[in-house]
Amino acid sequence: MNSDLISIIYEITKKFRDPISNKTFDRNNEDVKISHKDGHINIAIIINPNNRSKYDDLSIKLKESLKKVPDLLSVNIILTSEKKTESNNNEHTKFQNPAKNIIAIASGKGGVGKSTFAVNFAVSLEKLGNKVGLLDADIYGPSVPRMMGISGKPVSNNNNKLIPLKNYNVSCMSIGFLIDVDTPAIWRGPMVMKALEQMFNGVEWGDLDYLIIDLPPGTGDAQLTLAQNSKLTGSIIISTPQDVALIDVRKGINMFNKVNVPILGIVENMSYFICSNCNEKHEIFSNGGAKKEADKYNVKFLGELPINKNIRIYSDEGNPICVAEPNDTISIKYSNIVKEIQKDISN
Ligand SMILES: Nc1ncnc2c1ncn2[C@@H]1O[C@H](COP(=O)(O)OP(=O)(O)O)[C@@H](O)[C@H]1O
Ligand SMILES: [Mg+2]
Repeated sequence: MNSDLISIIYEITKKFRDPISNKTFDRNNEDVKISHKDGHINIAIIINPNNRSKYDDLSIKLKESLKKVPDLLSVNIILTSEKKTESNNNEHTKFQNPAKNIIAIASGKGGVGKSTFAVNFAVSLEKLGNKVGLLDADIYGPSVPRMMGISGKPVSNNNNKLIPLKNYNVSCMSIGFLIDVDTPAIWRGPMVMKALEQMFNGVEWGDLDYLIIDLPPGTGDAQLTLAQNSKLTGSIIISTPQDVALIDVRKGINMFNKVNVPILGIVENMSYFICSNCNEKHEIFSNGGAKKEADKYNVKFLGELPINKNIRIYSDEGNPICVAEPNDTISIKYSNIVKEIQKDISN
């Protein structure tokens, strides 16, 4: 980010005041966030939604003043009501979805195979006769469209809701359709929440048996807000056997416990490698760590998935292994995990 440019912007914005609180729009004002990417400026102002119209005039004047700044390509002013106020108790209505079951796929860190699992889990559920939606909420690296072989952008219907894109009979929606994947840094705080909210309420999901959410890795604000407000049936945590990944798993377990979301289980991904030459089992990142962790925290262990070249190749081709080779032992492993979850949920 060009800090000089941000300073120039603040020099201009600080001449303006919030029409309600009367606070100036300077760096100390917590209700105003300014970010910049490649000549595009985003100004997020946290407001009380009841006062929205009072900001119309201000938005126009602010934009007008910023036009004087050289090299600015666009100025985007986002009025958001995300900050929780006592009168703003409709938080729960923001992440509504009528799906019978909503399951979040979580991981403590990136790169452990969370999205690969989410995609194969979703297609396996569909094969078992369920109506399935897949919501890619990973603000740091949305990858569901690629892994599901989906290209193009969703369009809106008459109700102004986005129609999910379908492949393998699974309805998909990705935050990557709403934000620029290469510029996630500008979508922080309230802006991320706005986009996530749109993924729930602004999408025509239809009647689903299952909505699967590919959460962003980690335990930040976005994950916590989703876990807290989206009426999750439960979560599944994906980990590799390594110590570093397991430390983050503990944080994940604590987060879901804190917001009373049941943890349906932990899956250990990349547990072992079967050599295609000698058929020997190699435990590359050691093995069994996730099971130990699950036992320690009294969470169900759902099973181990190997490192396998085909998992990656099929993922990259947008053809999940459970679709491409449904009878492969790996696809059967995914399918068994799905059946286990279905059984646990129905009990
Ligand atoms: N069990 C596996 N065996 C081989 N490659 C895998 C496996 N699980 C995931 N991958 C590959 O590892 C990379 C990271 O997986 P991904 O699902 O994108 O992780 P995350 O969503 O946790 O960041 C991808 O290239 C994916 O194809
Ligand atoms: Mg991912």
